[in-house]
Amino acid sequence: GLRSYSISSAFDFGGNLFPLSQTQGGYAPLGTPALDRQGQDGSLERNKTLTYLNGLSLIVGLIIGSGIFSSPSQVNANAGSPGAALIVWAVAGVLAWTGAASYAELGGAIPLNGGAQVYLSKIFGDLMGFLFTWCAVLVLKPGSAAIIAIIFGEYVVRGFVGADVVMGNPWVNKGVALGGLVLVTLFNCISTKIATRIGDLLMFFKFVALLFVTVTGIVVAITGFSAKGEANEEWKTHGWFEGTNTEISDFAVALYAGLWAFDGWDNTNYVTGEFKNPNRDLPRVIHTAMPLVILSYLMANVAYFLVLPHATIEASNTVAVQFGSEVFGSVGGLVLALVVSASCFGALNATTFTSGRLVYAAGKEGYLPSIFGRIGFSSSASQGPPAGSRLRSRSWARKSISRVLGDDARLGYTPINAMAFNAVLTGIYIVVGEFGTLVTFYGVAGYTFYFLTVLGLIVLRIREPHLERPYRTWITTPLIFCCVSLFLLSRAVIAEPLQTLIVVGFIITGIPVYYWRIYQRDGRTGISWKFWTWRSR
Ligand code: ARG
Repeated sequence: GLRSYSISSAFDFGGNLFPLSQTQGGYAPLGTPALDRQGQDGSLERNKTLTYLNGLSLIVGLIIGSGIFSSPSQVNANAGSPGAALIVWAVAGVLAWTGAASYAELGGAIPLNGGAQVYLSKIFGDLMGFLFTWCAVLVLKPGSAAIIAIIFGEYVVRGFVGADVVMGNPWVNKGVALGGLVLVTLFNCISTKIATRIGDLLMFFKFVALLFVTVTGIVVAITGFSAKGEANEEWKTHGWFEGTNTEISDFAVALYAGLWAFDGWDNTNYVTGEFKNPNRDLPRVIHTAMPLVILSYLMANVAYFLVLPHATIEASNTVAVQFGSEVFGSVGGLVLALVVSASCFGALNATTFTSGRLVYAAGKEGYLPSIFGRIGFSSSASQGPPAGSRLRSRSWARKSISRVLGDDARLGYTPINAMAFNAVLTGIYIVVGEFGTLVTFYGVAGYTFYFLTVLGLIVLRIREPHLERPYRTWITTPLIFCCVSLFLLSRAVIAEPLQTLIVVGFIITGIPVYYWRIYQRDGRTGISWKFWTWRSR
């Protein structure tokens, strides 16, 4: 049942840690038969545990995190009016949906774990797959964790310390963000089970929070109730499109903020190989999760507008606290701060979990020094636990912990080095970054690869029309995604030239690193200078 799901079933270290090392196909040259069905490794079969509901809670739990509680300010500031902001949210949601549907087709055609990294390797060659991993490890994963941690810090400080105490001092927020990061990293280092149990528990809060906001907003609009005595009338007296921005580039920035809240839609693709029935369930998961999330985000935004004036939403990174204290006074603000902090903590926890896995896989594959491809404190590269054995609980403390967490909680049997690497990078982003810039930065880097991957779907349809595709989207789906994300990327160049330059620089530095690592690993024979391989069947 749902109970046994947790990310642990998807991400268990029991032998199927990540696709790269065990499929061999992950980075094999395109000439290998990896695209064929028999390219699947037998070990993937063993771990087919995920059901439709597991997939649904995995993806919804990852998508609903910090964004819906913090992005509204950036969306509003750049869209200019409530009506335009709602349109931005809808467009962002539909874009994420078309992306996810395209990924579902790829997941069926290339049924391996690993998501974009595998698809890009298969379609455009190893270098492209490497560049994705390079960016994911150095920018996307730690960058997104930093954003969530910063929002976590802001909500904790707003809720518990009180805004007045720390007004104008971002270091208090950042300190709390770093504290949260350390805590989550510790949990993830101690035991996979602890991490996933926390995740399960906190997922509940996300739904509660969104439902609460929506219902409250509607009730307030009907009754005109306000703790501060003066209900917001703006939505009655002002036009919903009054003040709409006409600067297209600003809309791109608004879209990035909206897309952040919908981000995470590709995450079921990382574990496609572990679905019991991926061909049926992957598309089903996508087509229930996305409309559900889009609907709940639109409702929450409408609720914000009913309760708060546009200018207030625009000015605050912690819209939900504003919302709570407007309706219920300071207690309401506190409660909402608590719930949102929990939601962010859960998202931070989940993202730390997957990051550890990604860095670990890169270490095992030889893309990062092999020290990162180790489990626990062992000195050699891990091959997993010895057959049939579990790490024995040696002390009383260990025994009682395993009693609480279940028999298979292997304490310290986690990619500790990889986790530490990720935590250090995330910490740096927390210290130097700030929500708005990080979100755009993340968006540009992320959508570069989303775009390339969905473009790959179109390429694959042309190149291999007869490849078995259990699920086919309409061809308009990837086309829409490609056009809109190309527009987004081109606009980012104009709106945020410096950030775009940094992202491009980052990706390009990956090219020599790729050839260096392959040379280190395989010698001269490993190097293939083919950027693009046409393959006919
Ligand atoms: N949508 C999430 C949020 O609103 C962020 C997801 C970050 N991406 C990821 N793959 N973890 O906070």
